[in-house]
Amino acid sequence: MIYSKIVGTGSCLPEKVVTNEDLAMRMDTSDEWIRARTGIRQRHIADVSQTSSDLAVPASLQALAAAGMAPAEVDLIIVATSTPDHVFPSTACLLQARLGIKGCPAFDIQAVCTGFVYGLAVADKFIRSGQHKSALVVGAEVFSRILDWNDRSTAVLFGDGAGAVVLRADSRPGVMASALHADGSHADILSVPGNICRGGIAGSPFLQMDGQAVFKFAVKVLNGVAREALEQCALTTRDIDWLIPHQANVRIIDATAKRLGIDASKLVVTVDRHGNTSAASIPLALDLAVRDGRIQPGQRVMLIGVGGGVTWGAALVEI
Ligand code: UT7
Repeated sequence: MIYSKIVGTGSCLPEKVVTNEDLAMRMDTSDEWIRARTGIRQRHIADVSQTSSDLAVPASLQALAAAGMAPAEVDLIIVATSTPDHVFPSTACLLQARLGIKGCPAFDIQAVCTGFVYGLAVADKFIRSGQHKSALVVGAEVFSRILDWNDRSTAVLFGDGAGAVVLRADSRPGVMASALHADGSHADILSVPGNICRGGIAGSPFLQMDGQAVFKFAVKVLNGVAREALEQCALTTRDIDWLIPHQANVRIIDATAKRLGIDASKLVVTVDRHGNTSAASIPLALDLAVRDGRIQPGQRVMLIGVGGGVTWGAALVEI
């Protein structure tokens, strides 16, 4: 039996840190409101010249170094992003060129904040098919580009960054289970409803969100999809060593852990420092907890995401 295993992780955050106090100086908000409603203290914001692929390159190189692999050994590249460098070519193709890799398939996945879980599940299936021996899966975002910085209800929530993992074929699992879902009938609760049209932008280029609707939906589906992945392996929440939910709001994270009956000590939380980095949030948190020694080889980690689309998904991985 062929499985895929995470053999390296990496991440990259832009240098510039923007605190809640910084935001309170430019819009009608406060550190107290942002912390109380979201748990966010600060976020990293990319320079105007920095793109998603600029963040994806160092994150990928770090993951490859951790895996002890040269870029040329990668035979599949998937980038999850809603803030690609261009309409096309894909950010995955741009990343491929910048890593000096030629020939392997490279494509983007657009599942917003669930994008990394989607990418991991897809890469796992490619590797299990026996046709690919390794994969680089990246979540990379510059959400600061699609925020209306005059809209306090969304501008305070997001940040920029990238996280990456290298998967390799292995006789032991690895990615133990995954479950992916979408329901496009809720597309309007979280969207950037614009497109490039005849040299301009048709619709809006800014993120729009019904925060409360997204909040309720997230808490409902994250619990269910985590249990669905566990059922695939006949495991229970007691078998999880670490829970890494999408980092959107500490209240969503805490409510999800509570519904799953998972102790707060098993949660990896980065939203306080990173804000919501969409598809990058889960691999960023994973890399942080691997590098600081919390996540140890042999441990089981549940990754759960929810985002625009709406999309939601889970991947249970043994490190
Ligand atoms: O990645 C997935 C995407 N996003 C999410 O998962 C986000 C999900 N939703 C949330 O996290 C929360 O709904 C928010 C953090 C967005 C909002 O928290 P809330 O507790 O649902 O607040 P609210 O939208 O009900 O707003 C409460 C009040 C309103 O004022 P009034 O109408 O009560 O006078 C807002 O105008 O807070 C006001 N408000 C703010 N005040 C200060 C909204 N944004 C701000 C702000 N600073 N930044």
